[in-house]
Amino acid sequence: MIAIIPEPVELVPKNGSFKLDQETSIYVDKELNRLGNYLRERLTTSTGFIFKEKDLQKNNQIQLKLTESNWNLVDEGYILKVKNEGIEIIARKSVGIFYAIQTLRQLLPPEIESQKVLKNIEWSICCVEIEDYPRFKWRGFMLDEARHFMGKGIVKKMLDLMALHKLNKFHWHLVDDQGWRIEIKKYPKLVEIGSKRKIKPNRGEESNLKDPDFIGGFYSQDEIKEIIDYAKERFIEVIPEIEMPGHCMATLAAYPELSCTGGPFEVPTKWGIFSDVYCPGKENVFKFLENVLLEVMDIFPTKIIHIGGDEVPVKRWKSCPNCQQKMKELGFDKEKELQVYLTNYFARFLESHGKRLMGWNQILDPTLSKEAICQFWLGNRRAIVEHMRKGGEVVATNYLQTYLDHPYKIISLKKAYKFEPKFPKVEAKLKSKLLGIEAPLWTERVPNLKRLEWQTFPRLTAYAETAWTPKKKKDFKKFKLRLIEFIKRLEFLDVKVAVEKIN
Ligand code: ACM
Ligand code: ZN
Repeated sequence: MIAIIPEPVELVPKNGSFKLDQETSIYVDKELNRLGNYLRERLTTSTGFIFKEKDLQKNNQIQLKLTESNWNLVDEGYILKVKNEGIEIIARKSVGIFYAIQTLRQLLPPEIESQKVLKNIEWSICCVEIEDYPRFKWRGFMLDEARHFMGKGIVKKMLDLMALHKLNKFHWHLVDDQGWRIEIKKYPKLVEIGSKRKIKPNRGEESNLKDPDFIGGFYSQDEIKEIIDYAKERFIEVIPEIEMPGHCMATLAAYPELSCTGGPFEVPTKWGIFSDVYCPGKENVFKFLENVLLEVMDIFPTKIIHIGGDEVPVKRWKSCPNCQQKMKELGFDKEKELQVYLTNYFARFLESHGKRLMGWNQILDPTLSKEAICQFWLGNRRAIVEHMRKGGEVVATNYLQTYLDHPYKIISLKKAYKFEPKFPKVEAKLKSKLLGIEAPLWTERVPNLKRLEWQTFPRLTAYAETAWTPKKKKDFKKFKLRLIEFIKRLEFLDVKVAVEKIN
C-alpha cells in the first residue's frame, strides 16, 4: 500500500518496482550536494548500502535535479518518478527536492527509519509518478519551553519530525511567566534568575538542575544558533517569541524595576495570568525591550519576530502614576490603549530594522501596521478580517481546534483532522492573506518528552495534512489507513504515539 502523509496533490501508481541495493548510486546537480548527503544519511543507516555519488546513469540510480523551466511548479513543489530502472526527483528549488526526499522515505518500507542496519529487508519501491506542492505557505508547530524547558535534544527531534511532515515554521515560545529561556548578554539576570523556579514534584516535575529544589534551563546564544542551523538544513524557519507586555513574571523577578509596583517578585510556580506586567509608563521598559529585541534580531535570521501580546491585564496600569501620566500625555482614556501604543511602537522598531512584528490576535487594532502578522487563537474574528482587508497577513491557531495541549476528549484526532481555517465573510481575493495554520503545544501539563509526544502525535500528523494537502483531497477514513502505516515509521524513530486515541 502506498501511504504518504501529507497526501500528495497527484499520485499515479504504475506497474513494476525499483529496489535499492549495494550498487544503487546517487546523482545530484551541483547545488544539491548537501541534499545528496542528507538523502544518503537517511538511507545508509538502515540499509547499510553506501550510495556512491556518480554521474548520470541509466540504471539503478536516485537522481536529484533542479530545473528552471517554466512549468507551473511552485518553489516548494517537486516531481518524483519511480521507474523500474531508477528514481528521478525534479524541483525548481532545493526545498522542493527536500520535500521529495520526505516522500521517498515514505515510499520505502517503514524499516528505512531504523537507527541500525537491518538485514533481509527488501528495500523495494512501487513505481509511481507524483506531482506535489503545498496548500499553505505557513505550516507551523509551536513549542512552549517557558512552562517546561525541554532542551536541545528534544527540540532537534521535533525539528526532524516536522521535516518528515513537511512542516516549515517552528514558533519557539521562549519567554513566559514561568521561565526566560534565551541568554541576553546585556541582561544576564534574565537567565540567572528568570530561567529557574521552585519545583513541584507533585505534578510530575523532576529537577534537571544542580539544585534539586529548582527546575528550569536556558539556551546560550550559541546553542540557539546551533538549533537555527539545524532547522535551516531542514528548511524550517525559526520564529522566536518574546512576550510583551504581559506574561513576563520571569523578567520581573530578575528586573522588578520594569513593573509598575517595583516588586519584589519570584518566578511563579503557578499557571495562569498574572496582574504584574511591564509598565508602559516607564521609558526604561521601552529601552529594555529594544535592547532585548536587538540581540534577538542579531541571533535569528528570520524576518519575523513574535511579541506575544495575549492576555494582558490592565489592573496595575490603572493605579500606576507612571502609566496614568503617560496616558494623559498621549490623550488616552482607556488603559488598553497603552498596549496598542506599545505594540505599534515595537512594530515600527522592528520594521526600522527590516523585520516584521507578529503577535496573538489581542494585538489587533485599526492602527496596527499592515506589515504585522496576526496569529488568531480566540476572540474577535471580525478584527482579523479587517486586518486582512487592510492587507495584513494571518495565521490560524484556533484555540478549540488546534491546541495540542488539549485533552483528546476536547480535540479528538478526527476533530484535529477536520479543522479548516475559516473567517467570516472573507472575500475571495483575501484568501492569500491567510498564510496557513499552526498547532501550538503549551506545556503547563507537559513536563517531559513522553507526555510531549503523546499530546502531539498523531494530532500534529493530522494538522500537517491540512497544511499541505488540497482541501478536496482530505478524507479522514483514508487518512486513518495511511496513519497506521505512518505510525510504524514514527515507532522506528522512537516516537511514542497516542495510538489508543486513533479511534
Ligand atoms: C494563548 O493561548 N494565550 C495565545
Ligand atoms: Zn505602570
